Amino acid sequence: MTNFSTIYKLSLVALTCFFQVLLVEASTGSCPVLECWFVQEKAGRGGGLTGATTQEKSLLHVQTDAQSHDAASQKTPADINPDRVYFVTGHIFISAPSELCDEADPAATLCHHSLNPPRGSIKKPQCEINPFLPQPSTLTWVASLTDSALSPIYLEAEWFSSAFQGLNEQLGISTITRAPTGSKEHNVILSVTSKTLSVKSRLGEPVLLDCGFWTDPSSPLSGSGFAVEWRYQFRGNGRVVVAYDGKRDRLADTQEEGATLDFEGLHEKGNASLILQEAKVRHSGTYICSVYLPYLLAQVALDLEIVEPPSLSIHPSPLPLAVPGQTLNILCEASGFAPLSLDLSWEFKGADGKSRPLGSGSVTGHRQTWDGTYSQSTRLELDTSKLDLGTGGEITCMAVHPGGTRRASATLNVIGFSTPSIEDSMAMVGVALVLYGLIKFVSWTFSSSGSDETDQQDKKEK
Ligand SMILES: *[C@@H]1O[C@H](CO)[C@@H](O)[C@H](O)[C@H]1NC(C)=O
Repeated sequence: MTNFSTIYKLSLVALTCFFQVLLVEASTGSCPVLECWFVQEKAGRGGGLTGATTQEKSLLHVQTDAQSHDAASQKTPADINPDRVYFVTGHIFISAPSELCDEADPAATLCHHSLNPPRGSIKKPQCEINPFLPQPSTLTWVASLTDSALSPIYLEAEWFSSAFQGLNEQLGISTITRAPTGSKEHNVILSVTSKTLSVKSRLGEPVLLDCGFWTDPSSPLSGSGFAVEWRYQFRGNGRVVVAYDGKRDRLADTQEEGATLDFEGLHEKGNASLILQEAKVRHSGTYICSVYLPYLLAQVALDLEIVEPPSLSIHPSPLPLAVPGQTLNILCEASGFAPLSLDLSWEFKGADGKSRPLGSGSVTGHRQTWDGTYSQSTRLELDTSKLDLGTGGEITCMAVHPGGTRRASATLNVIGFSTPSIEDSMAMVGVALVLYGLIKFVSWTFSSSGSDETDQQDKKEK
C-alpha cells in the first residue's frame, strides 16, 4: 500500500515536471533560435600570442531533444555561414522527487523566455560561442578530479563553450557542449546558471549570489566529482573567496571569513550559490562562479553592489532664532553612505506651504571611514536679509543617493518678520529726527530753566 502511494506520488511529480517543461515551452512558443557571435583566436601569425580573435555570426537552434529537427527547416539568414549553424540539445532527465525539475534542465533554461524575445524586438539576448579545449586543471582544489586517467576517447570530439545573457540582464547561462567530430549536434554536458547577475544589497544584510550547475548524467565526466570556485574581481585585483573540492569534500584554506556555500544543496541539487553573511562595502565588485568537471570548466560572472543611503543631521540643532539681516550658517552632514555618489541640496518651506530651492550650499570633499562608507557635508549661508523668509518655516537638507533620497529638516524662526521698505525707512528716519529734536528741545528747556532758578537763588543769598 505504501509502495503504491510512493509510486503514485513519484509519477505525479514526474508528470508535474513534464507539464512544467511543456509549460515553459508553451509560454514561450518554442525554444529559441539564437544568433550568436562565434569567436575564436586567429590561427597562425606568431603563435597566437597577439590575442587577436575573429568574430563570425552563427546560429544556434536550441531544442529539447535531438529528434525535433523542425527548426532546421527554418531559413538561415543570408549573412550566416551554413557551417556555423548548430543544434544544441539538453536531455530531459526528470529525476523524480526533485522540485527543481524544470530549473535543473539546461534546455529548459535555454528555453527561458528572456532568451526568446518576441519576433522583431530590438533588444536581443546576448550570446557568444567559442571553441573549447578540454584540459586538466592544476588548481589544488580541482586537480583531484583528473588524478585517475579518464577515457580520453570521450574527449576526442568538438567542444564548445557558450555564454548567454537574457534580456532582463538577470539570467546568465554558460554551457560546455560536445559534438561528435564533424557533427553539428551539440549536447550540453555542463551548464552553469545564475539568476542574479546584478545584485544590490544594503550594508550588514546577508547576501545570496545565485549560481547553480547541471551536468549530463549520461556523460562519463559526470559523477566523477566536481569542484566549485568563487573568485572576486575588482579593478584588476582578484582573490579566491571560496574554493571547494567536491570530490574529496574539502575546502581550500583561502576561504574568506563570512563566505559559505550550502554544501547539502550543492551535492544534491547543484546549488553552488555563495552566501555572504554580512554585506560590507568592500564586498562590492564582480564575482565569478566557476564549476569544474574533470577537463571541463564553465563560469558565470555576477556583480554585487553594496548600496547604503546616507544618514543626515543638521547643525546647529535646534536652529537659533534669526534676526532679519543676520546671516545664519547651517551645516548638513551626510554619513555612512556607499557608493560615493551623492547630491546634496537645500530647500525652504515657508508658512504659506510653498517650497523654494536654496541651492546646494558649499559642499565639502568626502571622507571615507573605517567601514568603507563615506561622509560629506554642505554648509548653507542663509542671508536672512536677501530672502523673504516671513516668520520662518522649515529648512530641509536633501540627499539624493542611488540607495534612496533622504531628508532632514529644522525649524527656522525669524523675529520681527517684515523687512522695512524704503518708504518705511524714510519715515523711520523722519520719526527719529523728530524724536531727536523733541528730546533735544525738552532737555534744553529744562536745563536752561534750572540754571535760571539757581541764578535767582544765588542772587537772593547775596
Ligand atoms: C540555494 O541555496 C541557498 C542557500 O541555502 C538558498 O537560499 C537558495 O534558495 C537555493 N537555491 C535554489 C535554486 O535552490
